[in-house]
Order: sequence, then structure tokens, then C-alpha cells
Amino acid sequence: MSDVSLEALRRRTFAIISHPDAGKTTLTEKLLLFGGAIQMAGSVKGRKAARHATSDWMALEKERGISVTSSVMQFPYEGRIVNLLDTPGHADFGEDTYRVLTAVDSALMVIDVAKGVEERTIKLMEVCRLRDTPIMTFINKLDREGKPPIELLDEVESVLGIQCAPVTWPIGMGQRLKGVVHLVTGEVHLYEAGRNFSRQDSTIFASIDDPALEERIGADMLAELRDELELVQGASHPFDPAAYLAGKQTPVFFGSAVNNFGVQLLLDFFVEHAPSPKPRATTSREVAPYETHLSGFVFKIQANMDPQHRDRVAFMRICSGKFTAGMKAFHPRSGKEVKLANALTFMASDREIAESAWPGDVIGIHNHGTISIGDSFSEGEMLSFTGIPNFAPELFRRARLRDPLKLKQLQKGLAQLSEEGATQFFRPLMSNDLILGAVGMLQFDVVAYRLKDEYGVDASFEQVNVATARWIRCADAKKLEEFRDRNAMNLAFDAAGELVYLAPTRVNLQLAQERAPDVQFLATREHA
Ligand code: G4P
Repeated sequence: MSDVSLEALRRRTFAIISHPDAGKTTLTEKLLLFGGAIQMAGSVKGRKAARHATSDWMALEKERGISVTSSVMQFPYEGRIVNLLDTPGHADFGEDTYRVLTAVDSALMVIDVAKGVEERTIKLMEVCRLRDTPIMTFINKLDREGKPPIELLDEVESVLGIQCAPVTWPIGMGQRLKGVVHLVTGEVHLYEAGRNFSRQDSTIFASIDDPALEERIGADMLAELRDELELVQGASHPFDPAAYLAGKQTPVFFGSAVNNFGVQLLLDFFVEHAPSPKPRATTSREVAPYETHLSGFVFKIQANMDPQHRDRVAFMRICSGKFTAGMKAFHPRSGKEVKLANALTFMASDREIAESAWPGDVIGIHNHGTISIGDSFSEGEMLSFTGIPNFAPELFRRARLRDPLKLKQLQKGLAQLSEEGATQFFRPLMSNDLILGAVGMLQFDVVAYRLKDEYGVDASFEQVNVATARWIRCADAKKLEEFRDRNAMNLAFDAAGELVYLAPTRVNLQLAQERAPDVQFLATREHA
């Protein structure tokens, strides 16, 4: 087998999806602990603080207790290389998260045992479903009282529409939590409060029939457990690898992230069963990970990671071949060769210079605004990966300058922030307005804050008469021109120069569509 096949096969690239507060940060830290990436548990706060320090504007993140940025963490585990792509946590941040999910091969869903399936989880699940992303589930905070486990499985099945296959099953909960049973191996792992915190060294029994177990958990609890297991095995589904890989079934684990309980069982199962990188579609053909030539796409741009240097980092997910430090890659959109010097890899704690990277890995490419979200890279071939969406914004504001002399900076700031995906930016054909679009309200606050902090521009945003936007496509150039002439008042260019219809009302949009049957009105734009 070639090096690239071997390396691709051992990659596991995933993201955690959850509602804020379910325990994503805590679980991330425990996973990193097993990967040897960090030595000490209990430093969630420290890690958050360290991240804040990387950029001043993240003070906003701190003030609001939200995570605006995503990062990438890589760690080795049991012969595999795990890449964990962090997603922004706040409910208002749609687009950024969606695009991270296009760059992973699977996802891990964290659910709070007391709260069950929450709104944000539902939304993220919908996104995963677009690509049939395989999902594992971790039901967290078992050290607290929560909903009965069977009820939770029912909830996942009915609300999220995915079959559940419990892999571990809890013995008690809250004060009565005694451990979990592994339904595949039959082993019982005891929970000993305080003991599992930094390492997973729980007492293990080979099966529930081990006489020593009864001594530890008591005859009543054991009897209760036997009844419950009978019920569960009758009512739920056994793990089916094919159904999991097709995104139809989710293996379910129970545990407590903060106590590091049940986490290693999850991780062991994850590295064994989660998918390695799969072939990816481009506009011309499917690209297989084991191909020898490097290819990848950019799913995220982060500007000004260091306010001292106006650098921008483009996060590229590698889809095939091998990346070597300093190599040149072809950037099909500009038609130019780009030297990938000083690319970053993301070993959990620090950014460091990448020597090599393989399919499933993410590298960070420094640039000065030449690379956009959705851009592909290759070795010479005109490749363009598909499926990295821009969503039609639902909220619109007109940018207003307090100091008119700063117009240039404002334009530059908005263009860069929109390339980065922080907002969408439209320029009407018939006016000099600068219109911002967002999927969530908080995006405007972030943009205002960053404009001031990074570009020295004091801007406010005011109401504008736009209700929704659609990207315009038309195969017939003549019809497109007619459409443009007739609708110039409602048309604008987005930051990438694509034509967009800005509708003042939904009714107006509907009428415009009816009057121009040959024109397509698209609610998402794939990055060209
Ligand atoms: P998030 O990234 O999904 O937003 O969640 P995060 O890990 O920050 O966890 C949210 C809160 O839930 C934290 O408490 C965290 O300690 C707690 N938590 C995480 N896992 C467990 C668990 O297994 N059991 C219990 N009981 N709590 C858990 P916090 O009060 O916000 O912070 P802290 O003061 O505890 O650090």
C-alpha cells in the first residue's frame, strides 16, 4: 500500500456538534488528554484563556462567553491520527459552523442528560444530514440527575430522525451512578467519583455476571440493571457499521466528561469505526484520498490572528496526496502557482510549522487576502471542490460611517470580513450603499467590533428595506441582460462579484420569480 493510502486510512477527522453548555469544551479537553496532547486535566479555563490571548478582538468572545473562532486540534491515538475541528459555540453563528462541517468525515454529538435534544443540536444535525455525515452520540453529565436513558434514545430517534444503537449503558445516574455496561464487549466499567478525573482507570468487570460486581453495586441495583438491559436489548437496535457509515444510525455512549468517565470507551470505539477520508466531489470528477497529487479546499479564513501582523490564515482540508513544507500548489481560481511556505499544522496546544500533512489533515496557509473560502488547491489540475455553501442571509443592515473620510477602510474591512465569512457584503448596482447580510443578529455586533478594533473604523448599522436575498443564475446571456436591466433597482453584487437579487419583501421575490421563469433564484451559493 502506498504511503498516502496508509496515512489516509489512519486519519479520523471530525467535529463536535452540541448545544452550548452541553460539555463540548470539557469533552474536547479529555479527548486531548488521551491523545497525550495535554498533560493535565482541569485546564478548560486555562485553554479558553489562552485562546483569548491570541487576539484582542476575542475580548468580545470573553465578554459574551461565546466562542467566535474555530481551531483545529490534532493528536495521535492507538495508531490513528485524530483531527478535531472545533466549531464556534454560539447559537447565532450559523455559517462558520456549517462550513466546518463540510470539512469533516464524521461528527460527535454531545447531549446534556438533563436537557436532552436542544435547538442548536437539531440545526446542526440538519446540516450533517445534507452530506449523510456519520454521527456518534455522547450523553453527558451522567453524574447529575437527568432524563431516563430510554426516554433520551426515544427523543433522539423521534426529534432527530436517526436510529440509536446504544454501545454503553448507564448503571444508575446522579448520586446513584455506578458505572456503565459495554453492550458489545459485555464489560462493566465502574464509576468512582473523583478517581477518573485525569486518567481513565476505572475498575473493570468482565461481565454483569461477575460475582464481585454484585458486591460493589448491590443486589437491588444489579437486578434493576438486568431488567433494564433486557428491555433495552429488546427495544433498541444493535450497532450496524454500515448504517452508521450511511448516517442512518448513531452509536450512543453515556458518561461524564468532567469526571472523564465513559470517554475512553467512546474514543476507542470512535477510532475503530469512524470513517477515514472518503472521495470528494469536484465540478469535474471525484477525487480519491489515495491519489498521489495534493488537493484540498479552503473552508475557513481567519484574519488578524495576531493583531501585530495583518496576516490571514486560510484553513485548507487536504483531500488527496501529500503536503510537504515549502511545496508549490496550483490555485485554480487565480490560475497561479502558490508557494505553501510556513504552512501551519495544528498539534493540539500550539500552532507549529508543518513538515508534511495527509488526506484528512488541515493546514493553515498564510496569505494577504488572495485566498478565499471555497478555493481549491491542486497540483496543476483545474479542480474545484463542491459543497461549500454560502447561505442566503436573512438579516440586513446598511453600514453607516461616523467619519466619512474612513470610507476606504470601511470597504476594505467589510470585504475582508466577508471573505472570512464573518458577514456577507452587498453592493447595490444603483446606489453607493454598503449592505451587510447575516444569518444571525450577533454577527453584526462582531463585525462592528472588529471594524473598530482591527480597521479603526467606527461604523453603525441601520435598518434597510431588504427582507431576503437570492443568487441569480441564468444560462441564457441575453435573458440575463434583460433581467438585469429590468430589475437593476433590486440587484447587487456580493463580495465575490456574483449577482444577487435583494428583495424588499417575500411577495416581491415571488413576483420577480414569476416574471422571469428562465432565471434561477438560489438560496445558497456554492463558492465558485
Ligand atoms: P460547551 O463547551 O458545550 O459550552 O460546554 P462546557 O464544556 O464549557 O461545559 C459547560 C458546563 O458543564 C461547565 O460548567 C462544565 O464544567 C460542565 N460539565 C461538563 N461536563 C460535565 C459533566 O460530565 N458533569 C457535570 N456535572 N458538569 C459538566 P460551568 O459551570 O460553566 O463551568 P465550571 O465552573 O464547571 O468550569
